[in-house]
Amino acid sequence: MLLNQLVKTLSALVVSVGIASPVLAAEVKIGAAEALTGPAAKYGVAIKNGLTLAADEINAKGGVNGDKLVLIAEDEQGKKEEAINVFKKLIFQDKALMIFGPTLSNSAFAADPIANAAKVVVFGTSNTADGITAMGPFTFRNSVMEADVLPVTVRAAVKHFSLKKVAVIYGNDDAFTKSGYDVFKNTLEAQKTPVTTTETYAKGDVDFKAQLTKIKATNPDAIVCSCLAEEAANIILQTRSLGMKQPFIGGNGLNSPKLFEIAKDSGDNTVMGSPWSAENAAPANKAFIAAYKAKFNADPDQFAAQAYDAMHIVAEALGKVKLSGNLEKDRQALRDALPAVKWDGATGKFSFRRATSKDGKEVGYDAQQDAIVNIAKGGKFTLLK
Ligand code: ALA
Repeated sequence: MLLNQLVKTLSALVVSVGIASPVLAAEVKIGAAEALTGPAAKYGVAIKNGLTLAADEINAKGGVNGDKLVLIAEDEQGKKEEAINVFKKLIFQDKALMIFGPTLSNSAFAADPIANAAKVVVFGTSNTADGITAMGPFTFRNSVMEADVLPVTVRAAVKHFSLKKVAVIYGNDDAFTKSGYDVFKNTLEAQKTPVTTTETYAKGDVDFKAQLTKIKATNPDAIVCSCLAEEAANIILQTRSLGMKQPFIGGNGLNSPKLFEIAKDSGDNTVMGSPWSAENAAPANKAFIAAYKAKFNADPDQFAAQAYDAMHIVAEALGKVKLSGNLEKDRQALRDALPAVKWDGATGKFSFRRATSKDGKEVGYDAQQDAIVNIAKGGKFTLLK
């Protein structure tokens, strides 16, 4: 009886130790420079959570070739200067093998050249502006760029609402909102949808009534908004307070719970495209959503999903690399192993596509993935069918 009890206790102990903490050989330091505070923190915290969840899952299954992934996450506050500082710390002080981030394209244009100069992989999981991967051969991203998503989004919105003419508003001092605007402009021209007026704002603006009053006077059928989430939410709220009921069309900056925390149901009928949807019932996505909720007691979003997949993509590449302990060689080996990785994760089937090179310049890799168009209903995004 006593012996039986002892065997049971010992087996339970072995099982729990086996699952919770496999003994891992060495540590592989993975840097993450994300906006953990400030207006972009809603994206940055979701990204950190997605990276953490994936690293914990990979480590619990024995790590990568027996090595443990150790995430070093630093706050770049959504600011260029801070992104540069954090990149320098992660590369030269922490001696990270690679860096995820930064959260905003605006900061990526400032910080990614540092990683490229140091021959360190910089992997954007949320940067969607044009030109990110043209910064150098060590730049990768699994965030699908606006140029790939917005034409699909606009076509679906025009059809769904039978739009004849739209107004446009965008932030003209942010790399992502400006790049999104350029793509919207070209797309609307190509798809022959007239623009009634184009209005701009600057980072930090909270009162958009002057621009919205002008938009109201042109009586558009919808408003195209190349904006980050907090600005978009305030624009939507102020549109409603001016008695305007038009639907909105946006890029992935709008794909955040922040939009609905501020705009609530006023955000309904906003159309936005993304490779990730909470309604994608593929097993990998269902498992991701369940694990995320269990760990963070919150619903994941596109930013968490892309970060989660990105960590798995890096782990796949590392699985093919025999780390030597020579940091310079190992950084290059990761760079060389990444382009061939294919992954089917929370955001669906993924592969890399070499960026377009101008003048024969060495470039990095973009995401090759299809967008799903969503529409906001009852304070959340659902598939636009
Ligand atoms: N997609 C946004 C950017 O690239 C967050 O800045």
